[in-house]
Order: sequence, then C-alpha cells, then structure tokens
Amino acid sequence: MGGGVIKGHVACSGAKNASIPLLCASLLAKGKVLLRNVPRIRDVLDICSILKHLDCKVVFKGHTMLIDNTNLKYKPLLFEECQRIRGSYYFIGVFLTLFSKCEILLPGGCKIGARPIDIHLEAFTDLGYEYTITDQVLSVYKKKAVKEVHLTLKNKSVGASLNACFAGLSLQQFVMDNVLFEPEGKDVIEFLNQLGYPVLFSNEKITYQKKNLEFKLTKHTVVSDRIEALTYTVLGLLAGDITIKKVETKDLELPLTILKKAGFLISFTENEIKAKKSKGNPMEITTEVYPGFPTDAQSLFGVLYTRTNGQSNMQENIFENRMHIYYDLMDSGVECLIKNNKAIVEGTDQIQLKNYKAYDLRHGAALLLLALANEGEALISNFDYVLRGYDDILNKVKALGGKIEIIS
Ligand code: EPU
Repeated sequence: MGGGVIKGHVACSGAKNASIPLLCASLLAKGKVLLRNVPRIRDVLDICSILKHLDCKVVFKGHTMLIDNTNLKYKPLLFEECQRIRGSYYFIGVFLTLFSKCEILLPGGCKIGARPIDIHLEAFTDLGYEYTITDQVLSVYKKKAVKEVHLTLKNKSVGASLNACFAGLSLQQFVMDNVLFEPEGKDVIEFLNQLGYPVLFSNEKITYQKKNLEFKLTKHTVVSDRIEALTYTVLGLLAGDITIKKVETKDLELPLTILKKAGFLISFTENEIKAKKSKGNPMEITTEVYPGFPTDAQSLFGVLYTRTNGQSNMQENIFENRMHIYYDLMDSGVECLIKNNKAIVEGTDQIQLKNYKAYDLRHGAALLLLALANEGEALISNFDYVLRGYDDILNKVKALGGKIEIIS
C-alpha cells in the first residue's frame, strides 16, 4: 500500500458533522430543502434512509440532495439505522418541536468512550419533557407546557447544544447558556436562520424568540469538512506534495499554527492548504473543545509524530477511548509510551507495516495514513468505519497516487 509518491490536489467535501444535523433539521422546513455539497458517506446514507422511512422523498444526485418532507408523519424511530450512527439523536430535538414526543432506539456510533446523552436529556427536561429508557428505546414526552426558558447546559457538548436548540424551537422564547458550536454547528444555526427560525448565537449563548414562519424552498451549502482537510494535510506532510482545496482555513487556525510552528512545510490561504513531505520539531498537543485542538484529528497527528525529531506528547481530553493508534505505532516499531489518555511518541524512520484493525472512524483514517506513508504493505480490517465518514476516499487517494484497494 505505502511508500509511493503522493502528489497532486484534492478537494474537500462537505462536513459529516454538519450534514447529519442538517438532514435531520430539514424536517423543520415546510416542504422542500435543497442541500449542496453533501458528502456521499455511509452515515449520511443512513440518515437518508431514516428520512425515507418517515415518508420523505429524498433525491441525492452527485453531492446535491433534495428533501421533500410534505408527507412526513410521526413514527417511532425504531429503525436499525438509528443505532448504527451517533447523529440519529438529532431527530429527538426535531421531533419534540414537531410532534412534542419522540421514541427512538438509543444512538450508536464509534465506540470512542461511554458517550452518554445525559446533557441532552437534562436539557429536554428543562424544556418541559420527561423521558424513560426501556430495552434500548428512549421515549421522550411532553410533561408540561413551557413557553419561556432560560437554561444552562451542565457541560460542554456539541451534540447536546444543537439538539437542545432543535427541541426549543416550539417555545415562545429561550435562552441557552454554556452551548458549544463548532464550525459545523454554526453552519446548522445558519440553516435554521435560513428556514426562518431566529436563533442567535454568541459567546456560548443562544437566544431565540419565536416568530411566524414563512417557508419557501431553502437552499444551503454544507460547510467544508475541516477534519478531512487535516487528514489530507497530514498525508501530504507524511508522504508527498498535496494541495488541499475547498477548505475553510479560518476553522483550522490552531492545528495549522501548530504545524507551522513545528517547522513542517505547510502554507495556506483562505481556502487552500499546501503540505509537503517534511520533518518537524516535537509537538505537545492536548485535545480541547473548539477552538482548541480537535479530538477528531488526534490520531492523525499521532501518526505525524513519527516524523518529528524527538519526543512528542498527545493528551486526549474529550473521549476516554481514542488512543488505539498509539498501540499500532508501537506494534510497528515506534517507541511509544501510553498511559491513560496520554501518549509519548518518539520520531523514527524505522516503521514496519503490519496488518491492522480499525476501531473507529478516525483511527481507521490514521491507519491509512500510516500505511500510505511507509514502505511495504498493510491490511486494514474494519475499513468500513472510514467509509462512514470520508467522501470518495478511495478515488481521492488513488488520484493522488496512493495504492489502495478494498478487498471484500
Ligand atoms: N458527553 C456527556 N454527556 C452528553 C453528551 C456528551 O458526557 O450528554 C460527553 C461525551 O461522552 C464526550 C464529551 O462530552 O466525552 C464531548 O461530547 P460531544 O457531545 O461534544 O460530542 P458528540 O456530539 O458525541 C460530535 C461529533 C464527533 C466529535 C465530537 C467533538 C457528531 C455526530 N459527532 O460528537 O465526531 O468527535 O462532536 O467534536 O457530530 C468523528 O467525526 O469522528 C466524531 C466522533
């Protein structure tokens, strides 16, 4: 698989973590929604099939999707797709606003930690709902009519911030504190505004005051995938000379600054990154909520650490079980010390590729980078994880000169 020349340019697709809530929120429109730049990834296809179970018409051509929810009616969300992905939880907030109730199979997704949904549930309770969980089915019902609420999310959560916001849209008004919106969440707020929901976000706070909605066909372009951009950036630094196009570099300020400071050959403009094979100085990174270093890029940078002149440190602070790549590096001959959620990696050129198994989406992507960047061949099992979140990755990597094949 690896060791060849990786050269050329690659265009980023729309963000997975924006597309999923956008598709769920499309139910909040009356009639049709047109979404552009939607990635053709498995998670999106799973959400589409849930929309179809709900009697929506979905036409997905290229990267443009037309959703018509004219025939939408309430159904319990007991479809297996709900448990395959994490983001199915966004249907809860949307259903509460539309139908004042929701029954749903508990969400699944990558097993990168316990991933409870207590922050979501507490917010729904503050908004006047009660819930039960029986045999993997979460049921949320209206307990009391609430018109106005001022609530504070008990902890920072990307998913809970948007979900609580969706659930609050039937109220006359709300204020929500301690919310966390990454660029993907901000994209969804912009979409809600386009639909006519006057949600305002600033400084960890959202405010909303209901007004009469005048629906018309809403067209929205999904924000670019910043984690995909970082994946190809790291690939360029490890293995070649890549220009990454259609990127919002303003959303990647910290990771790009870290790479520049470490001395890697990287340059960027507003919408483009150039990354060239190079070595850098050791780095010390801690994952934090946005605008801190993204947890989704942690394993990717772990692989890049092998190209530093010394010892680099990584501390994972968001999820409890996202350190698999460091064990693979160790198995491949890299000196690595792993304790709890911290890894220390020694840079080296002596990497012996092996067969690997992906345990989550970003772990799979990091394994791919490791394989493409080093001489030899590697077999990655569970590669399905990667296809859940990376649009057209096989063709993109092949177009750059990477040798990659799926063996069923
Ligand atoms: N948490 C709770 N209770 C909750 C919600 C979250 O304890 O009710 C904890 C989580 O267990 C975690 C932390 O809070 O330790 C942060 O979780 P958050 O809710 O912010 O993340 P998420 O909504 O579950 C989304 C993305 C993830 C991405 C994180 C952080 C989706 C579908 N998933 O997850 O994406 O890592 O935000 O940016 O949007 C990925 O793309 O590989 C991925 C895992």
